[in-house]
Amino acid sequence: MLVLGIESSCDECSAAVVEDGRKILSNNIATQIEIHKEYDGVVPEIASRTHTEWVKGVVESALTEAGTDLAKIDGISVTNRPGLIGSLMVGLSYAKGLSLASGIPFIGIDHILAHLYSARLEHDIEYPFIGLIVSGGHTIISVVRDFDHIEVMGTTIDDACGEAYDKVAKHYGFGYPGGLIIDQMAQKGDDRAFSFPDPSLHKGEHRYDVSYSGLKTAVINQIDQFHNEGYEKSEHNIAASFQKAAITMLMKRLFKASSDTGISRVVAGGGVAANSYLRSMLRDKNNLEVYFPSMELCTDNAAMVAGLGYHYLKRGDRSGFDLSAGSRVEGFRKKYP
Ligand code: KG4
Ligand code: ZN
Repeated sequence: MLVLGIESSCDECSAAVVEDGRKILSNNIATQIEIHKEYDGVVPEIASRTHTEWVKGVVESALTEAGTDLAKIDGISVTNRPGLIGSLMVGLSYAKGLSLASGIPFIGIDHILAHLYSARLEHDIEYPFIGLIVSGGHTIISVVRDFDHIEVMGTTIDDACGEAYDKVAKHYGFGYPGGLIIDQMAQKGDDRAFSFPDPSLHKGEHRYDVSYSGLKTAVINQIDQFHNEGYEKSEHNIAASFQKAAITMLMKRLFKASSDTGISRVVAGGGVAANSYLRSMLRDKNNLEVYFPSMELCTDNAAMVAGLGYHYLKRGDRSGFDLSAGSRVEGFRKKYP
């Protein structure tokens, strides 16, 4: 079964053709980073307008690259939530138009579930596993029971992890997007230069939650307070110390989620899953079976959307033309083991 995937939830305009939920025939990702760079962040109106200009070309070249055409496509899979509403509307409307004109069925896909599916494009992974989604918009630790079934254990109670990276980078003028830049700067810094606090959210219903707003404030407004004598207050040292605090906070909760549930298989996804410190911390944990998507499949891409869509379409699920786009995470109940 050939599935055409379309992803436009944020600033990546992407289309892909994936065979049987696994074989990537094309994964065309047109990034708007250069456009939003000058604002140090994604400007929603500019993002959606750019999607309207790009989506047709991106879809057509994904079909061409895959050596196919619309007539050979069995289903269309499109992200319809969560994300920037205007951006989502562009991809969703385009998918509906294609479906209506061609008679090919389409299915709306949840972006979080798509990120959790990413690693499965490249690896055989059995359920259940602990899913870790860390991106610019989301930070979620969950038990993943099937492609369409997750139980949320912990989330951020304020900023997303990638958002904290981006805000710290913006404040210090490191560049945009901040995640990769801080990751690279941190390699040259000493993470002992600053001791940033870990919020004590480890009790009751917050056992697996994280919070990045306090860390962001500490790094941006109270930097001197957390400085350790004998270390330079250099930008590289700030980057390294921030990264250590941001990732360690998350890993502690993740390791706890794994040991409390007895599920040692861990699958990561989302832009921050590309982070070198996070990857090495997870890989060093010998008792865990860890899977990451390759770098290109960590950040937003349509291959994960097409791959996940295949499973719904194969089951006979279809979306109607009344399907709307949604900005929020929906349908995942927080559950404590
Ligand atoms: O998944 P994604 O492409 O978009 C969302 O759904 O949010 O993730 C983008 C986020 C940005 O915040 C970016 O700064 C962050 O992922 N990111 C990283 C790295 N590469 C991208 N954060 C930390 N380390 C990286 N290497
Ligand atoms: Zn994403």
